[in-house]
Amino acid sequence: MLCFNVFFFNLYIVVINASSLLNIDDFLNLNPNSTTSLLTLFNMTRCVETENSKLTLNIITDFYKNMPIKWRVQKHTFYDSGYEFNNLIVTLPHYNEYDYEDTVFQFPKCNAIGLANDLILAVHYDTIANIPSFVGAIDSAASIAILLFISLQISEDSNELRRKNLKIIFFDGEEAFGKWSESDSLYGSRELAKIYNENGLINKIDLLVLLDLLGGVQSRDSKSHTIFNYFPETTDYYKQLLSIENDIYQSTQISLLDPQMSNVNIMISDDHVPFRKLGVKCVHLIPLPFPAFWHTIDDDFEHLDINIIKHISSVLLKFSKKFVAFKKIYI
Ligand SMILES: *[C@@H]1O[C@H](CO)[C@@H](O)[C@H](O)[C@H]1NC(C)=O
Ligand SMILES: *[C@@H]1O[C@H](CO)[C@@H](O)[C@H](O)[C@H]1NC(C)=O
Ligand SMILES: [Zn+2]
Repeated sequence: MLCFNVFFFNLYIVVINASSLLNIDDFLNLNPNSTTSLLTLFNMTRCVETENSKLTLNIITDFYKNMPIKWRVQKHTFYDSGYEFNNLIVTLPHYNEYDYEDTVFQFPKCNAIGLANDLILAVHYDTIANIPSFVGAIDSAASIAILLFISLQISEDSNELRRKNLKIIFFDGEEAFGKWSESDSLYGSRELAKIYNENGLINKIDLLVLLDLLGGVQSRDSKSHTIFNYFPETTDYYKQLLSIENDIYQSTQISLLDPQMSNVNIMISDDHVPFRKLGVKCVHLIPLPFPAFWHTIDDDFEHLDINIIKHISSVLLKFSKKFVAFKKIYI
């Protein structure tokens, strides 16, 4: 598995360089033989401190290093409860720079980045340790692939100024090692929210969109897994997502959001929480109820629905472009 993935990834660099010739089906597909799929790259366990965890970070890092526009890549290593964790933060600043070096984590490095606020799209890349061979297809391999796809599309799209910095954060240590609790869970996001706060950067985040448990096959009752509007303070953003979903419904025939915008009064503990506690506006893209195979060995690539993954990618890509771009570029 390990060797296969390393070999596979070397091929992938060629793919990125030729990416303008490819389309969404080349990047988001479930064919195990595909040399261009962003999804099948993550068909492996990604437990904290393991070789596969390092491999996952290397794949993502190399992916961003080979983008058409340069992204800043920062690895944030920290220790907690006897474990080493590694968050990865990648930034497409609001204007293009061509002299980035890879940096170990430090804030703020470049003043230019500080001039604009951030749109953060976030996901966790670790998998739970207590189920052997658990690959976390919805938890959260599919979401990682969605964010890589969006990054590539946005990065290719334009050489022009953006209004915002686009940051993609890959959290480590979302899962609990034992029983889920406030101190055993959300290691990566708790630490990073703390650092943002200490550095006075928390109010530079305009919006944090967290993806989790996305891309699974729907049960027979297709109404049963809905991404609700969880927070009143981001209802306007939810409406924008709804409107985009509505626009593309003709072509995808998929609707995951809730047009009624029902009032769901529920607390879901996830990586957005440490940021939201500090006042950051959050959109939580997570279906309710959770898919039945959540946190079971059946959360594998057989249980992914590629059309749903492509649909979410299209919606979030349009949303993100609108958020970070000047109007004159994307109308
Ligand atoms: C995922 O990995 C499993 C086990 O190696 C393999 O059987 C399956 O075909 C893979 N699926 C995809 C979509 O790559
Ligand atoms: C993948 O390749 C193997 C070996 O060439 C072949 O047997 C299999 O049918 C292929 N699978 C798909 C889904 O194309
Ligand atoms: Zn999980």
